[in-house]
Amino acid sequence: MTSTAPASGDTNSADPPPRCPHLARLTAGFDAHDPHLSPDLAIEVHRAIRSTAPVTYSPAHGGTWIVSRYHDVKTALADHETFSSAHGVFFPRAAGTPRFAPLEYDPPEQVAFRTAMKPPFSLARVRELHDAVVQQVRSHIHPIAARGHGDLIAELAVPLPLTVVGLAVGFTEHAQRRIRELTSNTWDRMPKDDGPGGFWPAFAQLFDSEIRRARQQPGEDYLSTLVRTPLDGRPPRDDELHVMLVAYAIAGHETSMNTLAHLLWQLAVQPELQETLHEDPGLVPAAVEETLRLWTPVDHGTRVTTRAVRLGGTEIPAGARVVLLTGAANRDPQVFPDPDTFRLDRGVNRHLTFGHGIHFCMGAHLARVEFAEVLHELLRHPVFTLTAAPTRYFENGRHICLDRLTVQFARR
Ligand code: HEM
Repeated sequence: MTSTAPASGDTNSADPPPRCPHLARLTAGFDAHDPHLSPDLAIEVHRAIRSTAPVTYSPAHGGTWIVSRYHDVKTALADHETFSSAHGVFFPRAAGTPRFAPLEYDPPEQVAFRTAMKPPFSLARVRELHDAVVQQVRSHIHPIAARGHGDLIAELAVPLPLTVVGLAVGFTEHAQRRIRELTSNTWDRMPKDDGPGGFWPAFAQLFDSEIRRARQQPGEDYLSTLVRTPLDGRPPRDDELHVMLVAYAIAGHETSMNTLAHLLWQLAVQPELQETLHEDPGLVPAAVEETLRLWTPVDHGTRVTTRAVRLGGTEIPAGARVVLLTGAANRDPQVFPDPDTFRLDRGVNRHLTFGHGIHFCMGAHLARVEFAEVLHELLRHPVFTLTAAPTRYFENGRHICLDRLTVQFARR
């Protein structure tokens, strides 16, 4: 089973699409934050950079080095001593924005934060959460399927991931609602907005109330444990709890939401894929992994070099900001034959969507279970198809979102 979902807004015309006037400019000087860079154009820009200048300099944002081939991106991710995360992975950002833990730290701080944050996402804990996740998946899908139509973004892809992270971590329902409100404009504000009305103070205020609750009225939830878990041999300070909670809230929510959106989109534009998975549910994990590869929800991360280093035959100086284009690596034809096609027969899918090395995503087990259960549940209902084309767009130049996914379920 192979297929590629059409680009959003595809006209299905037999004529070749006109060449985008920004392709050459963005290939010569890649800038993830360029207002003309759409997710569809990014695929073309990635392809051009990968084949002509796989490790290249761009003058954007004071100078950045762009890395696009699979093996180079993976090499950099594996070498955290040379490619440091401690200057921030999200770039550019407003002064005063704290670094998210453990994402934006190097060892030993990264190890200490990760050790404290990992327990709710261990394989064993995710197994324990399984039934609760299934229940949440069903309660979100049933009303839409019963009605026969709905918006799978607003009613499923947005609310479900945060509910599931909430279950794992122990965010209150109030906090989940508030995180959803705050994350709706985080990426827009984070790079530029450092004032008291900016992105961070509202998050800090919310986390203060969650920390207070966990200290004063501890329960069975992980948050109640986290506020007492020693960090470096002493109780964690509030500012340390803040940067851990923001990573749970944002890393766990936005990424899963956008992956789920693309998985549902792929199914909606390709109803025969729903039939295939219905006939052979054993292919569900392959569909999840292929969505993670083909529709990489986090297009890039950044690092700063701690020394001069040779990568892909090119010398990168010490102190350089390096943009690792995971989206380009995941479509590298040297590793993924027929890279722009959605295929269920790739075997072990070596995509870099969850990262690689010491920062490998700690929510990967939970996210995979959640996506697989969404597929299993949807396959119990009639086939659904799109009723209007969605628009795909970037947030903060790296997160790829869909605005809506209005679908109609077939009658039985
Ligand atoms: C499809 C869903 C997800 C994707 C695509 C994703 C992607 C990633 C990536 C690319 C990294 C590495 C970043 C880097 O190396 O700079 C990462 C790390 C991380 N992810 Fe996820 N993530 C997902 C779901 C989750 C969930 C559900 C959680 C749970 C809260 C989570 C929490 C984290 C944390 C805390 C880290 C930092 C790990 C470290 O630095 O040691 N992620 N994720």
